[in-house]
Amino acid sequence: MNFELTISPINEIDSDVELIVIVNKNFKHDFVQDKKLLKKSGFKAGQDETCLLISKNRLYVGVDKINDENLRVAMAKAIQALSATKYKSLKVASYMKNKKSNATLRAMVEGFILGAYAFDTYKTEKAKQAIKDIVISLEEYNALELNMEDCATEVELGQITAEATNFTREIVNTTPEDCYPKILANIAEGLSDELDLSCKILKPKELREEKMEALLAVARASRHTPRVIHLTHKPKNPKAVISLVGKGLTYDSGGLSLKPGASMVNMKLDKSGACAVLGIMKAVSEMNLEVEVHGFIGAVENMIGGDAYKPDDVLVAKNGKTIEVRNTDAEGRLVLADVLAYAQQEVEADYIFDYATLTGASMVAVGQYTSSIMGNADKPRDMIVDAAKASGELATKLDFNKHLRKCLKSNVADISNMSNTPYGGAITAGIFLDNFIDKKNKNKWAHIDIAAPAYVEHAWGENPVGGSGAGVRMTIKLLEKLAAKS
Ligand code: BES
Ligand code: ZN
Ligand code: ZN
Repeated sequence: MNFELTISPINEIDSDVELIVIVNKNFKHDFVQDKKLLKKSGFKAGQDETCLLISKNRLYVGVDKINDENLRVAMAKAIQALSATKYKSLKVASYMKNKKSNATLRAMVEGFILGAYAFDTYKTEKAKQAIKDIVISLEEYNALELNMEDCATEVELGQITAEATNFTREIVNTTPEDCYPKILANIAEGLSDELDLSCKILKPKELREEKMEALLAVARASRHTPRVIHLTHKPKNPKAVISLVGKGLTYDSGGLSLKPGASMVNMKLDKSGACAVLGIMKAVSEMNLEVEVHGFIGAVENMIGGDAYKPDDVLVAKNGKTIEVRNTDAEGRLVLADVLAYAQQEVEADYIFDYATLTGASMVAVGQYTSSIMGNADKPRDMIVDAAKASGELATKLDFNKHLRKCLKSNVADISNMSNTPYGGAITAGIFLDNFIDKKNKNKWAHIDIAAPAYVEHAWGENPVGGSGAGVRMTIKLLEKLAAKS
């Protein structure tokens, strides 16, 4: 999808179709062209409502009011409304909160690209996205007050962000037969070939040398050997050093504590944290942000078999702590325990964020659309919550407490991998991870449970069914903010 910015008035632009945004409360005014026709079609200019007037080559979309969030989703719905048409080019005016703010441009571009995404790898008939060229006119807002270069930057940032999100979605959607640990490592190596990122891959031999026995135990029954991936973006004068850690369970059958059949469907989603880290690293490098970013991924498949790890096993994690396995389906925390320890050994970071489809309990707690943000300190958690809000993602804080900490006590080892209560499962999983955060890093770390929004079962907002790319946009926003610090 190509974008062009112009100061030409919208009427002078040559394109197949024009997209017009109507703010709901303005629909009654006479300046709305085609009002009679729109009314006749039942159009009410509600948020995300579209109406295509094919004889006029005009598509209308309603918004409640002009802001990033509304425009992003409206553009996604608009582009979807055109997916079956033969239109190839589209023109649209800019819709800004005021004459000097160009921020909504980025949201609009993100909406177009996110909305146009379709996963068709396994379809014999491929989805065709008709619209290839989009021209955005700045004329309405008196181009003289807007700096064209700044506007072009907003468009570019929107493109990088949305394309990174789609990149993440695509990997999440890929089947476990086609995307196993080695493939995640290949994708990371591909990024480092293409971009200015360095990449280190740890195979089983190195994982044993690094004493990542918890991760190795989870991986043991799979015919696909595990990998730990370390991607690095290292600019000359970084404003901060950040480590990102992703859960990359390319399939989670539950292991011997086997998931019921219905719960196993879609468990290719369990690599979403890892895929988010890959997408973020791609964007960080393309934006050339002035922050040093390390992406760590634990890539493992959790299967059953004669060699499977078992409930009752005691594992020794990389940091020396012993873990009683009470449920092999609580495997993500075992993998992350080792990868978090490895990340802290390798890099002294200012902040550490981990991304994981860690618990079904997170979905129960906060609903399908929201990520749960945990940790010991408010600062890194607030950074994530604020960045999520600014990026169009939903995130909310869940607090640890001393009572829930006790629920992970084990009679035979230092800690159990399962809580002794069925309540607060997202938080007890977060507390488990906290046991693998070094003392000096306690307040630098936040855990992001993306189990709820990572995989969409019924399309919502700008997300089609399947991987959503949760975590990507919020983190890009956060890193941009850190990079902008003087
Ligand atoms: N990958 C799952 C969590 C999950 C469930 C993600 C549904 C997305 C949708 C995780 O490994 C898991 O199975 N967690 C268990 C933990 C329990 C055994 C303590 C869970 O949530 O039931
Ligand atoms: Zn599991
Ligand atoms: Zn899992």
